[in-house]
Amino acid sequence: MSLNIITTIADMQSVSSALRKEGKSIACVPTMGYLHEGHASLIREASKNHDIVITTIFVNPMQFGPQEDFERYPRDLERDIAIIEASGGTYVFMPSVEEMYPSNFQTTISVGNISKPFEGIYRPGHFEGVATVVAKLFGATIPDAAYFGQKDYQQTLVIKQMVKDINMSIDIHIVPTLREKTGLAMSSRNVYLSEEEKNSALVLQSALNIGLSLIAEGMRDRALIEQAMIKELSTIQEFRIQYCHAAKAETLELPAEFAKTDEIVLLIAGFLGKTRLIDNMLYSRTLE
Ligand code: PAJ
Repeated sequence: MSLNIITTIADMQSVSSALRKEGKSIACVPTMGYLHEGHASLIREASKNHDIVITTIFVNPMQFGPQEDFERYPRDLERDIAIIEASGGTYVFMPSVEEMYPSNFQTTISVGNISKPFEGIYRPGHFEGVATVVAKLFGATIPDAAYFGQKDYQQTLVIKQMVKDINMSIDIHIVPTLREKTGLAMSSRNVYLSEEEKNSALVLQSALNIGLSLIAEGMRDRALIEQAMIKELSTIQEFRIQYCHAAKAETLELPAEFAKTDEIVLLIAGFLGKTRLIDNMLYSRTLE
């Protein structure tokens, strides 16, 4: 089937309703475009489980802060479309900013505690923007399921909380982070990095791996786990840490001591030059 491109909300809703009447199951993969293999893995996973995969491409101004990279966010529509087609996507929903936010737009979705720490501190308003746009994309594509990457770990928790709290009947699937051969987490923003910075960026992954092995060895003292990760991060002087934490994976709480049975997420964010990088890894007992 060739790829269909839809630009208006009304068209998207009527296509989705018609497909649903035919008994098709529909998955939505929200993106901001400039796709890479990480996005492609979401589309491939969605197309394994659903008849129809709608990939959305929308660089959402509402989730960027005033000092952030909305204006220079990379775009390459032709390449995006080729990647979506090759990954088994069936539809692309690609609205304009005016279509999504007409001049009398007035509603914001604000998710509570789970959106407050970490990204919530360094990107105020970011998760309101994410939750609002994802709710709107769901309202336009009317999916049975939606696929998100673990790369944006806190975002997955915010979306799951929103879907539960406002009774959206959509299954949320989380796909593991896809990495370059070097281990660098794939990201649309990696194009901002020089070759040297790409090398330095590997320190995020090595710090996360140090944290994971300490936990695997039985360490549950949060401060000690974090100190070891920060020590590794500080070997790269140019990396300016915003946060580096071990947290409870489900709630993002920061206990002094984790319980043996806790699932733990290690989260790092910071700047390398002008580029903001985030990465995370999950420790769960089932991985032992
Ligand atoms: P964007 O950064 O384009 O990412 C779209 C989806 O791809 C997100 O679910 C993200 O977690 C996932 N993704 C990014 N890099 C990945 C990687 N290396 N491996 C696996 N998945 C990866 O996240 C957003 O856009 C926006 O906030 C959005 C949800 C679209 C709302 O505007």
